[in-house]
Amino acid sequence: MKKYSVVIAGGGSTYTPGIVMMMLENLDRFPIRSLTLYDNDAERQAILGQALAIVLKENAPEIKFSYTTDPKEAFTDVDFCMAHIRTGKYKMRELDEKIPLKHGVLGQETCGPGGIAYGIRSMRDMIELIDIMEKYSPNCWMLNYSNPASIVAEACRVLRPKSKVLNICDMPIGTTRRMSQIVGLQPKQLTVRYFGLNHFGWWTSVKDPDGKELLPQIRDYVMEHGYLTQIEIDTQHTDPSWQDTHRKAKDIIAVDPNYLPNTYLKYYLFPDYVVEHSNPEFTRANEVMKGREKNVFNAAKAITAAGTAKGQSFHIDSHASFIVDLARAIAYNTGERMLLIVENNGAIANFRDDAMVEVPCLVGSDGPEPLCQGKIPNFQKGLMEEQVAVEKLVVEAYIEKSYLKMWQALTLSKTVPSASVAKAILDDLIEANKAYWPELH
Ligand code: NAD
Ligand code: G6P
Ligand code: MN
Repeated sequence: MKKYSVVIAGGGSTYTPGIVMMMLENLDRFPIRSLTLYDNDAERQAILGQALAIVLKENAPEIKFSYTTDPKEAFTDVDFCMAHIRTGKYKMRELDEKIPLKHGVLGQETCGPGGIAYGIRSMRDMIELIDIMEKYSPNCWMLNYSNPASIVAEACRVLRPKSKVLNICDMPIGTTRRMSQIVGLQPKQLTVRYFGLNHFGWWTSVKDPDGKELLPQIRDYVMEHGYLTQIEIDTQHTDPSWQDTHRKAKDIIAVDPNYLPNTYLKYYLFPDYVVEHSNPEFTRANEVMKGREKNVFNAAKAITAAGTAKGQSFHIDSHASFIVDLARAIAYNTGERMLLIVENNGAIANFRDDAMVEVPCLVGSDGPEPLCQGKIPNFQKGLMEEQVAVEKLVVEAYIEKSYLKMWQALTLSKTVPSASVAKAILDDLIEANKAYWPELH
């Protein structure tokens, strides 16, 4: 088997150790010759880099490992770039969440005004990252899960349509895993049909290996418990706020019991509930900084101090194995069926062609081949038309540096009650994002 060279962009991410451990677990399926971490925050990345150097030396000394902030060093001779950057880091995520809340509007990483603000920050860095990748390794594929994935994907469609970038989200994977627990099967035994935008979609079918439709059985469960399951084997989505989100799926599904909803629909269908249950002084960013970030960085420091990872290694992010599945699909032309964010072009038959939608695709060495999901009903179509227009306006606003289009994007978002509230939030966001956004006029 050919061995591959991988760079992780956002090397200082809280997800980096779990993903590296997962790749080490999967070397028989996806052999690696070289692994490099790349970040623009040298100090943050070095904490993880030092510890991972020890892990690699002890477990896979044959892999050439390094970490760097130099684009040329990071991207020369690379086959795959796994990208999970966060422009502005948690400090800016916290503001994305807290600024809208000051105006009585929900604050969320990828939804509503917070997601829009993050979108403008992310898209500039993501386009730059793609250009760096193509300069030093023109044949490299980028597997991107940097958020907000829908806005990043739309920016790629408009600004870098020929680039080898695949945008993917782990939420459908995590939720399908919960469905598999509900019906007592393994996630890979389920074949699903799904349509929507990123963080905005519905399962229309979930089948077992014999082709039996399991959706009614899962629906009955979700109507009662949401996606809360007894078996808590997840390494992600386990904090109290996530438990609330899994539970809330029971109210989302009540609005249309024909399909199984993505949990992110909570922000669009129950924004009032979300605001009521938010603490404007302590949002998800604070929960993550106190929890995941602290745990991961403390674990790294402990490994480095001990000079060994034996007895106190990082957790394996087993649910991130979809990243290996995706890399393998391209590397070995496996034709694996996976949900990706791709240009619609008829995959959802009665939806605009130029929308970036999330649908099942067959993935091979030329990339994704979307599978047609047919026509969708008015309720979902109406919601999606509105949301996709928001995402397109954000990308247009960025390209044209247009204040008006940003205001329109915020006004159109289902999470914002009026144009005046949208304007007040926008003006605060502009102030907070001065270092990251282009000047709008
Ligand atoms: P984090 O802040 O811990 O890590 C992000 C890292 O990116 C930081 O070390 C930061 O310095 C670095 N960075 C920022 N701008 C950069 C640039 N231009 N070039 C290189 N590095 C840069 O954040 P996290 O919570 O670990 O999440 C990382 C990203 O992954 C976020 O975008 C998050 O939304 C995304 N994510 C996506 C999914 C999905 O389903 N698509 C799932 C989980 C996380
Ligand atoms: C899910 C979503 C990601 C998102 C993450 C947030 O996995 O699919 O897109 O980034 O949740 O998790 P966090 O723990 O950082 O709030
Ligand atoms: Mn996601």
